[in-house]
Amino acid sequence: MDQTRPTPDINRRQLLISVTKGVLAVTALALLRPLFRFTGFTVKRKPRHIAVHKSLPPGGVYTGHDFILFILARGPLAVSRICTHLGCRVNYRKELGLIECPCHQSRFTREGKRVAGPAKRNLPTYPVKIIKDNKGKVTGYMVTL
Ligand code: FES
Repeated sequence: MDQTRPTPDINRRQLLISVTKGVLAVTALALLRPLFRFTGFTVKRKPRHIAVHKSLPPGGVYTGHDFILFILARGPLAVSRICTHLGCRVNYRKELGLIECPCHQSRFTREGKRVAGPAKRNLPTYPVKIIKDNKGKVTGYMVTL
């Protein structure tokens, strides 16, 4: 008879210990997941591409749902419409040449820089790609949010 072979009790005990360790490890990871999320460990969201099928003249303005597109001297620029104070949707006031929040009257330049009001941060800006036809004529813009 083979004396070096472990008895079945020891094997069962080792198996139970291994399974218990695995269950504890999975439980610990499940409990830590909300902590990782709370501390800012997040998955980056996918960028959204929004097409504006319109050619704007220099100085032109297009107001979308999530952004305002300006055709500035240095090129097109999209500025977020979400106010950095409490999240109201801002509007462009052509007579002032400024973006204004209807909630608490924070004001921003067309480049999104804060000039007045309770908002402390500038409005985010988004990259804009010019869409041209095969003759080189501008037919629209692609804004990446
Ligand atoms: S939400 Fe825009 S100024 Fe308060």
